[in-house]
Amino acid sequence: MKDVDPTTLSADDWDELHFPRPEENDFDRVVERAISRRGFLGGVLAFGSGAAAMGAGLMGSTAAHAVTASRFAFTPIAAQTDGTVHVPEGYEWKTLMRWGDPLFSDADGYDLTDGGPVQKSDRVFGENTDGMETFSFQGHELIAINHEYPNRKINLPAAQEGVPANVDDVLKLQNIQGVTVMEITETPNGWSVIKDSPFNRRVHHNTPMKFVGPAAGHDLLKTEADPTGTTSLGTMNNCGAGKTPWGTYLTCEENFNGYFGSSDENASYDQKVADGFNRYGVKAESWNGYELFDPRFDTSKNPNEPHRAGWIVEVDPTKPDSTPIKHTGLGRFKHENAEVTLAADGRVVVYMGDDERGEYLYKFVSNGTYQPGAETESLLNDGTLYVAKFGEDATGEWLPLTPETTGMDDPEIRIFTRMAASAAGGTTMDRPEWVASSPVAVEAYCCLTNNKNRGVKPNAGGDDTPINAANPREANKYGQIVRWRPANDDHAAEAFDWDLYVMAGNPTVHSDDRAGSPNINEGNLFNSPDGMVIDSTGLIWIQTDGKDNNEGDFAGNGNNQMLVGDSVTGEIARFMTGPNGCEVTGLAWSTDLRTMFVGIQHPGSNWPDGGTPRSSVIAIKRTDNGLVG
Ligand code: FEO
Ligand code: CA
Ligand code: CA
Repeated sequence: MKDVDPTTLSADDWDELHFPRPEENDFDRVVERAISRRGFLGGVLAFGSGAAAMGAGLMGSTAAHAVTASRFAFTPIAAQTDGTVHVPEGYEWKTLMRWGDPLFSDADGYDLTDGGPVQKSDRVFGENTDGMETFSFQGHELIAINHEYPNRKINLPAAQEGVPANVDDVLKLQNIQGVTVMEITETPNGWSVIKDSPFNRRVHHNTPMKFVGPAAGHDLLKTEADPTGTTSLGTMNNCGAGKTPWGTYLTCEENFNGYFGSSDENASYDQKVADGFNRYGVKAESWNGYELFDPRFDTSKNPNEPHRAGWIVEVDPTKPDSTPIKHTGLGRFKHENAEVTLAADGRVVVYMGDDERGEYLYKFVSNGTYQPGAETESLLNDGTLYVAKFGEDATGEWLPLTPETTGMDDPEIRIFTRMAASAAGGTTMDRPEWVASSPVAVEAYCCLTNNKNRGVKPNAGGDDTPINAANPREANKYGQIVRWRPANDDHAAEAFDWDLYVMAGNPTVHSDDRAGSPNINEGNLFNSPDGMVIDSTGLIWIQTDGKDNNEGDFAGNGNNQMLVGDSVTGEIARFMTGPNGCEVTGLAWSTDLRTMFVGIQHPGSNWPDGGTPRSSVIAIKRTDNGLVG
């Protein structure tokens, strides 16, 4: 632990260090199961790794290899290892907004030296841009964007090595995370933010919010400051996003556990609270050190405060004074994104991943149907949560999380959703990241980014499978994208068929299942698919958050990147590469579909301006101003 610099750890590495999963439970049995699974896959591996699911799956045995005209309107680019952004010939990119750029003129000249002043830190564009959505409202072009976590070594005075020294340091970190809403406009010189627009807004760790839904007012949400359990301050670790049919923004709280610590490492908790801390990874030592100066984050003083995070929060970008809503109906876990679609009868379906090794894929189905102009709050709360179970035979089912299937009451199903999913018997997954549903076909996809512990350690979720058909590789370094088609072309259906759209890998280095599926080749190498959005034409845009050392297992992958996939042929091509060190995450289109906005998070070089590295949103266009999505 002491040899590790905690200010530069990723959330999953932090969890791995602070929250080790059980090392064994029956190691011999684990190995035996893994070997028998390899035998099961062996017969079809000759066809190409991943073919177990792909060959007989949705892509069809011929479609995966079909020779069809490419639907991609660009020449794929090569992998890159340098410190800037690359796009195909005929496209161009410009920076739209960088961490620290003012949203309001009273923050003009915000000085990033020593991480920027606390006084105006909530008046500027936040750090570590992530999920985003665009909104067209009464002629205004609005964009809402998440700010996932701080880069403490950059955001705090350099001499402090990323460690908060006082309450102002904590407040600054809290202010630069959360959500930005801003109005943007296109000029002859490109897109820019309208400073001082009445729509511009920052939502951060201290913004008042309200709880609604089955768990609102529950004892586990009550604190000394809020004995009603119905209000809350702030949203944190805002990862992916979503957009409702009624034009609001959903921001998803992911690695919230790391924000809480305890000044008393021997503090004792009620059993239920302690069990929850254990499953969700809330420990005495925090990631950011908030609890040193902000007692709200000290679990020995406020043991229920972590229960008030890990939710999906609705923000109305058109009403800058509105109170954000925490929807307890959507469950509490490390929410990646919220992919909202409608069932055949108009019920609202929300697909959601829980990004931790061996956790689950979920969906929510509302009881009521969406009616334009009618009340919407209940549509994200009155309904059933389901966990996905992927069968070995390319079929699957959504298991409802109810008192009958979990032995828990409904509010506790929403608060301790992970335990409910384990009780119901969901399939543990290789870190579910973004889910995307297609606007042109009744199907959806989830990025399973990687899982180095698959088959190596027991799953957190406890389904007792070292590997399974949807997560078929031990020590999975590369990740895969699973796809499902709901029965009866209805996203509310409980049955589905599934396959693996792609298994990332490296056929230039490996010839076993690490080579990847047949649609991986030397020209499109990538690892760790993460962000994913399907455009209006049905093309799948895939963003990566993986190893970018370009060596060994990852030779030829280059920097993190954005690729595009054809759902029908399986063809995947590299469209964009980010500067070294970065993660590419977040994608939205302008209303006219002639610009795509892409997030570049935590660039490692001094991108984009040659000085302090700054997470930024870029705008990508065709030079002929053609459609890009
Ligand atoms: Fe915030 Fe799982 O990515
Ligand atoms: Ca992500
Ligand atoms: Ca990731």
